Amino acid sequence: MNVRVFASEPEAAAACAALVAAAIREKPSLVLGLPTGRTPLNVYRELVALHQRGQVDFSRVTTFNLDEFLGLAPDDPSSYRAYMERHFFQHINLAPERIHFFDGSAERAERECVRYDLKLLEAGGLDLLLLGIGPNGHVAFIEPGDSLQAGSHRARLSRESRLAVASLFGDDVWKVPLAALTLGMAGMLQARRVILLAFGVSKAAAVTAMLRGPITPMCPASFLQLHGNVEVWLDAESGRGV
Ligand code: GLP
Repeated sequence: MNVRVFASEPEAAAACAALVAAAIREKPSLVLGLPTGRTPLNVYRELVALHQRGQVDFSRVTTFNLDEFLGLAPDDPSSYRAYMERHFFQHINLAPERIHFFDGSAERAERECVRYDLKLLEAGGLDLLLLGIGPNGHVAFIEPGDSLQAGSHRARLSRESRLAVASLFGDDVWKVPLAALTLGMAGMLQARRVILLAFGVSKAAAVTAMLRGPITPMCPASFLQLHGNVEVWLDAESGRGV
């Protein structure tokens, strides 16, 4: 995995947005995998700014978001779908039918995962996947455990992950759903290019385990060592153990 350490998080975010915009200019029908959380917020802000300056056109782009809370409808303000609308989709010219998301309110989680994986297959997989990482080494909502599932699946959320997203639920961890739907490791490893972003000291241990540790389901991000085209973009704090 190629590691780049940036002087600051905003600098990395601007570089990441520029990279995404360049990839879209090169391939206007780019298939893009998108994360949520705090980490990509500045990337989305920069991409919106580039779009508003006429420097990137999303009209032919297809997106797949990586995860969604189970039990939340797309219009629930705490859902990841609502997060994406607020921070990105409503500010750009991406057609709604080109946006792919797990429906957290689907009655049958397994069927919803199959639907999502089929859409991803039809799209030809991800050209470019942006990722964050959880402090426990999770990517999307592939949580640490004894084994990993290749396909998209229903994941039971760890207490640590639920605490990390409590701000979306009025800082009340008891309101955070117990489970989520997530892209599986196969979908990630099949992406043609991966950029993983991690900033701040709270990510340092997970970043070190991902890059230097054994490949183990106890640190799902460590499976990215098997991918031939991953860049890990850090700041000094998240990269201090590297
Ligand atoms: C969240 C998401 C991930 C995200 C990670 C880190 O729970 N499911 O997709 O990358 O945890 O979040 P943050 O960027 O807020 O630290």
